[in-house]
Amino acid sequence: MKVIVLGSGAREHALVRGLLADPDVRAVLAAPGNPGIAEIAPCEPIADVCDAGAVLDLARRHVVDLVVVGPEAPLVAGVGDALRAAGFAVYGPDAGAARLEGSKSFAKEVMAAAGVPTALAHVCTTIAEVAAALDALGAPHVVKDDGLAAGKGVVVTDDRSAALEHARDCLDKPGGRLIVEEFLDGPEVSVFCICDGTAVRALAPAQDFKRVGDGDTGPNTGGMGAYSPLPWAPAHLTDWVIEHIAQPTVDEMYRRGTPFVGTLYVGLAMTSRGPRVVEFNARFGDPDGQVSLARLLTPLGGLLYAAATGRLDDLDDLHHRPEAAVTVVLAAAGYPSAPRTGDQLDGLGDAAVAATAQGAWLLHAGTRRADDGQLVSAGGRVLGVVALGADLTEARDAAYGALSFVSLDGGHYRSDIALAAARGEIRIPGSGS
Ligand code: AMP
Ligand code: GLY
Repeated sequence: MKVIVLGSGAREHALVRGLLADPDVRAVLAAPGNPGIAEIAPCEPIADVCDAGAVLDLARRHVVDLVVVGPEAPLVAGVGDALRAAGFAVYGPDAGAARLEGSKSFAKEVMAAAGVPTALAHVCTTIAEVAAALDALGAPHVVKDDGLAAGKGVVVTDDRSAALEHARDCLDKPGGRLIVEEFLDGPEVSVFCICDGTAVRALAPAQDFKRVGDGDTGPNTGGMGAYSPLPWAPAHLTDWVIEHIAQPTVDEMYRRGTPFVGTLYVGLAMTSRGPRVVEFNARFGDPDGQVSLARLLTPLGGLLYAAATGRLDDLDDLHHRPEAAVTVVLAAAGYPSAPRTGDQLDGLGDAAVAATAQGAWLLHAGTRRADDGQLVSAGGRVLGVVALGADLTEARDAAYGALSFVSLDGGHYRSDIALAAARGEIRIPGSGS
């Protein structure tokens, strides 16, 4: 099988790496890819991955058997629809199903129809409605832009005027609409559900670190690190998520005539009243997807192809490594508010050697080769190290050990990824233990 992966981040680097490890995958190419992917697979330039015509042209030119869409933007833009209409097998939902990520109010409507446990929410289009919803639900306030906002759409605050200010910003946009939501207390979990339109399989759960600083301080980011497994989580969490969340959602989307094919990313809060959905996304998480994928033993190409062609039921149950996986992200100076690009990256060769020796590997995210061939930073999250280990402590040591060889002026990373979990310090509220 020949596969093309769309996208240019560490998530896509992980997907290409996973696909290449599948003996049934003959060739993998990426568009546009990045310098790290280019070391293991051909990369095709593409100006805009949301340009369905350009993607279709690439898929036809390379006669691929499967298109794997990494990020959400091309899915929401209908790239999946165009490829499917032309007869390609696509891993990633059509635009109508990607609305589960593209519109938070739509996701809430589907969850309500499917009986999926989530936070109480009010959909608002005027500031008066927002004020009433804030009063009805009380603090802490959660205000979310309805549409895609690249991680900047959500404000969680005790300050009512800050909540109103974010609400005004959301309402000022064309078609301005937002949701005010009940605050969910408890640790967050990401479960990546592989869906073929009717059937569902789930990868091992991961936890993501959204805040930029140690101890969950500072602003929200796209994710600064992740780990799997979650020693503190209930034993049968993935089965529970399939039964109570993913399968009912997939059934509801099928009933509506917009079957969901691709990754249903279930973002959960583990509250005292049980797991509640915080968000749905229509793709793998980044970087949380990297650790779940690192633990997957089932060949990735066969799995994604089975999902893309409606044949998940033909596969055995998914197999996962017992080892722990940890990923740590190196971010650019100024990330997340104003990331600086163009800084020289050094030490990657030594880091890769150290990584290999310890069961770890580097994934590129925002990197670029300058005209002289030197690697420089080209985005907020620059690269990640993924490590496997006998337990979280070993995996942490391997990831941080490899990362210590990389130098980037102003670069920063969290030093506490998976630390509280390794120490047994994470509690689900009300669990008593
Ligand atoms: P979202 O874009 O919906 O994933 O929200 C981004 C982040 O905001 C989540 O990962 C949570 O950390 C936080 N968040 C979102 N909704 C809630 C909620 N109802 N209660 C508490 N925190 C939330
Ligand atoms: N790491 C969170 C996300 O991919 O949305």
